[in-house]
Amino acid sequence: MRVERRPVGEEESRRANGPDWDRYADEYQATHGEFLGDAGFVWGPEGFTEAEAGVLGDVAGKDVLEVGSGAGQCSRWVRSRGGRAYGLDLSFRQLQHSRRIDLESGIAVPSVLGTATRLPFADASFDVVFSSFGALQFVSDIGDAVAETARVLRTGGRYAFSITHPTRWMFPDDPSEEGLVASQSYWDRTPYVEVDDATGQVSYVEHHRTLGDWVALLAGAGFVITDLLEPEWPEHHERVWGGWSATRGRYTPGTAIFGARLG
Ligand SMILES: C[S@@+](CC[C@H](N)C(=O)[O-])C[C@H]1O[C@@H](n2cnc3c(N)ncnc32)[C@H](O)[C@@H]1O
Repeated sequence: MRVERRPVGEEESRRANGPDWDRYADEYQATHGEFLGDAGFVWGPEGFTEAEAGVLGDVAGKDVLEVGSGAGQCSRWVRSRGGRAYGLDLSFRQLQHSRRIDLESGIAVPSVLGTATRLPFADASFDVVFSSFGALQFVSDIGDAVAETARVLRTGGRYAFSITHPTRWMFPDDPSEEGLVASQSYWDRTPYVEVDDATGQVSYVEHHRTLGDWVALLAGAGFVITDLLEPEWPEHHERVWGGWSATRGRYTPGTAIFGARLG
């Protein structure tokens, strides 16, 4: 596998990232499942929970969609608090894990296979749409994903999502001190691409947007931004998750959580 920076469109991103998540799902759930909790809601590797953040508001009695729901842990938390949460994910294997945990936990999250840029729901179907590190940084046509969210939300509905903090794009994805040395421009939006040496095919893609890009995207789709949370790395939290660690977390934010209201 080799790493490159180069433009990648929506279809190629989807063709790479769906199978990549299918391949990675078993390892992902084995490594992170306990930390996530079968019916837990963390916004990122810092372990900052929705119970602490309160970005979604009271979910009881609300119709809620999780985009990039993975194994549905966050949606199960929403269900345990009285919300009618549904999941959507690009990876069939992630959804199989979701179904497994539905059966093990007794809290079922009805879920569909799909993509963030074409939500298979009628207009104004939901009160809340959210993603916890789900979908958004894997999507090329991000304007479509945000517009689709606006379409399926009811007026006044909430949108919240967490992503890798945009400033992290400047640093190598390395949890050690080496990962604290800026080596790439914050403003360079050229996607991070992994290419399979054997086939020459793109096997994984991540897309970057600056904080200003996100503000413009949300405002342009009719959202009013209500929150931008940047959770601090908690003391005594020693978890290493990809490029996230206490070493880096002491100096630089790893996660950004946006909250917004439609209209
Ligand atoms: C980091 S996981 C987050 C899932 C869950 N919140 C968690 O913490 O485990 C990212 C998820 O986004 C999904 N995903 C990637 N691209 C997507 C797309 N275009 N549409 C919907 N889901 C997508 C992946 O399959 C994966 O399950």
